[in-house]
Amino acid sequence: MKKVTSALMAGTMVLGLFATAVNADIKKGQKAYLKKCKKCHGNGTKGAAMKTQKEWEHAFENDATIFRDWHKSDTKAMKFINSKKFKKLAPHLKDFLYEYGSDSGNIPSCG
Ligand code: HEC
Repeated sequence: MKKVTSALMAGTMVLGLFATAVNADIKKGQKAYLKKCKKCHGNGTKGAAMKTQKEWEHAFENDATIFRDWHKSDTKAMKFINSKKFKKLAPHLKDFLYEYGSDSGNIPSCG
């Protein structure tokens, strides 16, 4: 009985951690957006609303193939997209953009 309880407790804790991490990523992604994308695409609300949630999801698949394609003629954007920083930030960016995609009904609190 004791074992079952602690397994349940551990499960709850993992879920709790997971929820926090997801939220942190959206915040991280928003920060990254403001730093990296805003100068070309305007504030976060506008930027995320460029695409639907589904489109954002696909944009970052396979090493962000679609995302790269959108920017292939912009050397400045490509320089960032080919950097190590982009690799690190991409999952957070995706979380943020997905959360506020045009069909999400969500609006970022600031940005
Ligand atoms: C140096 C400028 C620059 C930066 C930085 C940049 N982009 Fe772009 N982006 C462009 C240009 C230029 C295009 C292609 C023309 C267009 O559709 O506006 C484009 C296209 C896009 C498109 C497709 C638009 C469409 O109508 O299909 C999306 C979505 C997008 N960018 C999102 C982002 C996000 C998110 C970031 C940050 C990670 C970012 N961009 C960073 C310049 C930039």
